[in-house]
Amino acid sequence: MITVDDVTARLVDAGFIAAREESQELCHRSNGDDVVLESLLERRLRGEPLAWVTGFVTFCGLSIRVDPGVYVPRWQSEPLARRAASRLPQRGFAVDLCTGSGAIARTLLFERPDARVVASDLDDRAVRCATSNGVRAYQGDLFAPIPRDLEGEIDVIVAVVPYVPTHSLSLLARDTFVFESSLSYDGGADGADILRRVVRDSPRFLRGGGALLMEVGGEQSDVLRDCFQRCGFEDVRTFLDEEGDVRGVEATLN
Ligand SMILES: C[S@@+](CC[C@H](N)C(=O)[O-])C[C@H]1O[C@@H](n2cnc3c(N)ncnc32)[C@H](O)[C@@H]1O
Repeated sequence: MITVDDVTARLVDAGFIAAREESQELCHRSNGDDVVLESLLERRLRGEPLAWVTGFVTFCGLSIRVDPGVYVPRWQSEPLARRAASRLPQRGFAVDLCTGSGAIARTLLFERPDARVVASDLDDRAVRCATSNGVRAYQGDLFAPIPRDLEGEIDVIVAVVPYVPTHSLSLLARDTFVFESSLSYDGGADGADILRRVVRDSPRFLRGGGALLMEVGGEQSDVLRDCFQRCGFEDVRTFLDEEGDVRGVEATLN
């Protein structure tokens, strides 16, 4: 019988930092079956994301299914999801663009069970995964697949889009593109190509007073300021992560 200690020791040897926690998750997932455990451990030792190996991640306290190939939601996006939920009326309407596993949309639905929340993603694996998490998800580019009856009705648009500048993709963790796709990360020359498209296209879907909340990196909130203004947004605010860096931007449509 392989024990938690055995698995921990092999993870420690391989340089995994959170070896004990990961070992516990892998043992839990294998349900006492050593053959299963060995194969899960081998996948993890090859560098596959833990969430793909166990099939789940915890996001905003919810257990979210994450299928292999689908972007693993990061805890750093939790404040954005909570903030988006706080802007959503009980029976309001929300869109989660670039939904991935649907973690943010799922959080909105948990916080506002009577709201109508829809989502989109280009990747059909993500759409299937989000659907399995109970999200009404559509396959397609940003707003293209969002039902037209929602135009002018949306209270909250939330988006964690790809926002890494193309020239910085090589700086991401070494294993990133062994397993993940640049589709989740590549935001074009300055990283803000998709962010700008979201700002430009949101007014068609938002009601007056509705909010757009996006995760951003680096100086992107400054880069977007003019774009927000031209597109009719006011009260553009940034919010910081635990290290004091700008992590998100929130704007309200006039
Ligand atoms: C950084 S991941 C974020 C996923 C999810 N929002 C989260 O926080 O876990 C970006 C997602 O955007 C999707 N994507 C990339 N370009 C897109 C586009 N033009 N339209 C819709 N989805 C897109 C990718 O497939 C990926 O699932």
